[in-house]
Amino acid sequence: MRVGVLTGGGDCPGLNAVIRAVVRKGVKEYGFEFVGYRDGWRGPLEGQTMELGIEQCRGILPRGGTILGSSRTNPFKLENGVERIKENLAADGVDALVAIGGEDTLGVATKLADLGVDVVGVPKTIDNDLSGTDFTFGFDTAVNIATEAIDRLHTTAESHHRVLVVEVMGRHAGWIALHSGIAGGASMVLIPEQPFDIVDVCNRVETRFTSQYAPIIVVSEGAVPKEGGDMTLASGEVDAFGHVRLGGIGDRLAKEIEERTGKEARAVVLGHIQRGGTPTAFDRWLATRFGLQAIDAVADGDFGKMMALRGTKIERLPLVEGTAELKLVSPEEYAEAAVFFG
Ligand code: F6P
Repeated sequence: MRVGVLTGGGDCPGLNAVIRAVVRKGVKEYGFEFVGYRDGWRGPLEGQTMELGIEQCRGILPRGGTILGSSRTNPFKLENGVERIKENLAADGVDALVAIGGEDTLGVATKLADLGVDVVGVPKTIDNDLSGTDFTFGFDTAVNIATEAIDRLHTTAESHHRVLVVEVMGRHAGWIALHSGIAGGASMVLIPEQPFDIVDVCNRVETRFTSQYAPIIVVSEGAVPKEGGDMTLASGEVDAFGHVRLGGIGDRLAKEIEERTGKEARAVVLGHIQRGGTPTAFDRWLATRFGLQAIDAVADGDFGKMMALRGTKIERLPLVEGTAELKLVSPEEYAEAAVFFG
């Protein structure tokens, strides 16, 4: 059997660990051959391939990014996109595909599976917002990077009696903000799921200063104020899946806090640092197990499925279930953290 592998959407630490596990087990246990498709769905769409075997996967386990490259190409937005993919898979002699991606990449995989393409999905996103799985790899790495940044910002905020606002990724879901905020001892965490009240934020900033500590506020890029409640956009650009580019809520918030409280406030945007570099041990473990089980699913002919972590077990879910809705922070989970606010 010849198996194509692709990685789509925003990159994420652990992608290479999945590729390595898929290829290693595929070659050693099943005798499969592999074709690497470049840059997400652009690869099969335009017939852009690379050699992929055990040799190409040596040394990639701890490396961030993806050796296959990634893109946000959406074949359903392009003329004859699906037909072109089917033709190229046939021309490359590919019998099955392993698609590693988030909501958008796996959304495409779901539709292609309905149209007769034999595909197995592996969920990834640093946002951890895919409903079918307890965790996606990349999230733990992003949370650790954000937590280390918060730890460092505490000492400089205290030295200068400043408010420091830390903007982290999270378009619709505040998981990175919540986990890193709890782990880093933030004075407030603001997430997309719970529009924030600027008066309340400023009151807590002032309370924090009365206890001689400088406040650290962690805010998701998708967080919105209750009043004037639009997301803050970095630009008007929209990608092939209709997502706008977010960014700027940290600066907006710092300015507002400074004006209202008279305390100096600065913003730090962590941005793509959260997605780069080596994956944590947890993410390497999860990504490797997803890869091993994904190639088992291919060998079993169990297509249209996505790997999911449930507790400590990897299960196979219908792709459609894994991408049907976003996993958001519940009001209860957010309320649990609120004892530390202010
Ligand atoms: O989906 C993962 C993610 O990192 C989001 O948190 C963020 O909004 C988005 O990707 C940024 O995408 P890009 O790197 O394409 O601007």
